[in-house]
Amino acid sequence: MEELTAFLEKHEARIVETFRKRVVVSEHDQFKDTIHLNGRAMYRMVLRYFREQMTLEDIKQLAYKVAAERNRVDINIGDFVHNVCLGRNLILELLQEGSFEPDALVNAIIKINECFDVFLVQAISRYTDLKNSDLAEKKQFIERSHKDRLTILGQMASSFVHEFRNPLTSIIGFSKLLKEDYPDLPYVDIIVNELYQLNFRVSQFLLVSKKGIIPRKSEVINLQQLFEETISFLNPNIVDVNADIQCVIDAECELTGYRDEIKQVFINIISNALDVLYRKNGKKVVAIEVFQHDGTTEISISNNGVPIPPDLLPLIFEPFFTTKELGTGLGLYVSKEIIERHAGTITCESSEESTRFTMQFSSEIVREAP
Ligand SMILES: Nc1ncnc2c1ncn2[C@@H]1O[C@H](COP(=O)(O)OP(=O)(O)OP(=O)(O)O)[C@@H](O)[C@H]1O
Ligand SMILES: [Mg+2]
Repeated sequence: MEELTAFLEKHEARIVETFRKRVVVSEHDQFKDTIHLNGRAMYRMVLRYFREQMTLEDIKQLAYKVAAERNRVDINIGDFVHNVCLGRNLILELLQEGSFEPDALVNAIIKINECFDVFLVQAISRYTDLKNSDLAEKKQFIERSHKDRLTILGQMASSFVHEFRNPLTSIIGFSKLLKEDYPDLPYVDIIVNELYQLNFRVSQFLLVSKKGIIPRKSEVINLQQLFEETISFLNPNIVDVNADIQCVIDAECELTGYRDEIKQVFINIISNALDVLYRKNGKKVVAIEVFQHDGTTEISISNNGVPIPPDLLPLIFEPFFTTKELGTGLGLYVSKEIIERHAGTITCESSEESTRFTMQFSSEIVREAP
């Protein structure tokens, strides 16, 4: 073995030079002038392994260094494997030039193969890991910047909507004053009603942007009163559809929460009921029931319109899901968000007889600070 090692040592310069000439390397490879030094390091590694001055762990370190280098320049992995095999073949061919004992030769070939196999496996798996983590980093970067942009867009939209809402509120206020001062002035009712509708839409967007309506004030809400207000707000629509609104509301029922938000929910659900009843012939009914039992407040709003197909039922609370030509698909999404922020639940069942939305709240609702 000593003789064989000395032989390899003697021919090192020639083999490294042959390797330098035959190695496959791209013109753009920043390491192209030094890549043969990796070949030399491999050659010396084999020698030291023969002399038992090097372990497989040391080979792994060299493999990691080369893999990191190869990862920095975008190499073709096939070229890399080719070059490692070239190094191995050059050494094996060289050994044929000597005249060694068959036992020593076989032993040497086994050791050379051990060295190169460990090197190749470690280098390739390290290279693959590095490539994968680069890709994961790039993906993360793209996702992050995409999210940032969406957040900025959302903030812009909500601040725009918010700016919009302030003058709207004063226009509504002044229109009402105008009506008080000149009760016979035509069109003012229509103007005020349209402004309310606009205000409702704007509030819906604000609620989606999660900023909510400012200022927000949690309060005890009497549900009978709130439904009366909601029905009077929707009255033009109710008259247009010719719907019969049937209320069974326990006068004592109260909720603690954000009045504007809960009202928004009721408007959304009743508006949807009116939309579906609009196309119905015969008696059109919206039934509202509110009662308390076992520490739970239950509110149900149902209508006898065309049912929601079972395959669409799981989608109705998704944002932007709509089957209406002019719908935004935000009504039920916003409603569910609001109910959940009030620690409640909302569900929907639909059959030929009726479509029913049921909301449940624990009677003692404590809202989180916004
Ligand atoms: N009472 C109902 N009866 C039948 N279908 C309903 C009922 N309520 C909701 N839907 C269905 O659920 C969909 C989503 O309702 P949602 O209120 O979220 O949006 P939208 O009414 O379409 O639009 P928007 O409320 O934003 O104007 C509706 O398009 C409709 O298909
Ligand atoms: Mg709706």
